[in-house]
Amino acid sequence: MKSKASAPGKVILFGEHFVVYGVKVILCAINKRITVTAEKIEEHKISIKSNIGDLILEPNKPISEINSPLKPFYYLANKMLQTQNQITGIETTVESDIPLGVGLGSSSACCVAGAAAISRLFTETSKEEILELAIAAEKTIFQNTSGADCTVCTYGGIMEYNKKNGFTKIESESNFHLVIANSNIKHSTESVVAGVKQFKEENEVEFSKLCNDESKLVEDVLKLLKDNNTKELGQKIIQNQEYLERIGVSNEKLRDMIMIGQKSSFGAKITGAGGGGCIFALTDETNLEHSINQFKEKNYDCFSVKIDFKGLILFN
Ligand code: PMV
Repeated sequence: MKSKASAPGKVILFGEHFVVYGVKVILCAINKRITVTAEKIEEHKISIKSNIGDLILEPNKPISEINSPLKPFYYLANKMLQTQNQITGIETTVESDIPLGVGLGSSSACCVAGAAAISRLFTETSKEEILELAIAAEKTIFQNTSGADCTVCTYGGIMEYNKKNGFTKIESESNFHLVIANSNIKHSTESVVAGVKQFKEENEVEFSKLCNDESKLVEDVLKLLKDNNTKELGQKIIQNQEYLERIGVSNEKLRDMIMIGQKSSFGAKITGAGGGGCIFALTDETNLEHSINQFKEKNYDCFSVKIDFKGLILFN
């Protein structure tokens, strides 16, 4: 018997970094996916096959001894074998069209699709149970995850999140396109977040003003999303990028990409931690192709996405 599931990646639209200090963040699922197929095998082993390599191990190894980006899959398979008292094994195959390690939610999508495919080999898990398993799996790589990424990958659409009140789905029919350009600079979210903490400690007054400004901006954005006002949203994106520049998470390559995006679209900004990773430019049908062509002319790696409203898909 096989079990198959797929989950979308995500982008942070507004509020990254400031969310660490209590401001609301807005994120959305994107129509790039990870698909996981799981199968019971006779041999008592856990095997994970993916386009970034394979991991084949005996069950029951301490998770701290596993040094592989595929660790969440091992965690999930091992947990299911233990709780179901199984002496068989699990083989998992991962297919991805989300670039890895550049802030597009590839690891959350792996955890959500992996939790669904692996758990449903044994039992009819609900979306809520899958999300809980996925967050536990993601904690094997990011101990401090807020769970926001896994939540948006599970339910799809646009979501607001803050530390105090958790998640709320935003009802919006927004139909914009995002052109995502990848700097191909791998970033460590942890070290960029540490840099922002230092900026905050050295500039307490300015940082607190920036948090207030970002909070106001996010409230305006929530209205604009409901009204589907793409042009005004573009202005907010440009403004948000200025705040991100100020806290030092940009660099020359990202600025060059953002300039191309801002000239060819309604607005462009970093998405996620910065220091590398991706930027996005907000477009609609009138400027989508033009924007993509501008990035391609300068040899930047880019592609367009739309909001994914489906979230987790279970194939059986
Ligand atoms: O790089 P990403 O997409 O995982 O985003 C990190 C978002 C931050 O706000 C910078 C950190 C956080 O924990 O929210």
